[in-house]
Amino acid sequence: MALLDAAREVRERAYAPYSGFKVGAAVRGASGRIYHGCNVENVAYPEGTCAEAGAIALMVASGETDLIEVAVIADSSGPVPPCGGCRQKLAEFGRADTPVLLATLGGATLATTIGELLPGRFDISHLSGTE
Ligand code: THU
Repeated sequence: MALLDAAREVRERAYAPYSGFKVGAAVRGASGRIYHGCNVENVAYPEGTCAEAGAIALMVASGETDLIEVAVIADSSGPVPPCGGCRQKLAEFGRADTPVLLATLGGATLATTIGELLPGRFDISHLSGTE
């Protein structure tokens, strides 16, 4: 699968000297183009960025703001669940039914959706006040 292959390939370039945990992510924009990203850690730990954030940043910088598919891969005991912040980032550009494939290097996969990963998402409808 092209999207998962892209995530697997970019994962190898992850910069994760502190956790040793490399993650690769790929998103497919509505155009069909694939954008990939890897985690980039920092000695000031909170400054590190997740693989999903990198893929989304590349998509937006390339001129797209709708994603239709996501794949994430890591060398973990089970399919790696995106962190809470990344779930919100994915929800910004995808829909509740957007497919997300979580995978391990060992071949385990979990097919889910953005809606399953982030039920009760905070979205633009919550920004309008009642005053
Ligand atoms: N990480 C990601 O890149 N994506 C996730 O969804 C989970 C965590 C990275 C952040 C950090 O560099 C390393 O994995 C360990 O937490």
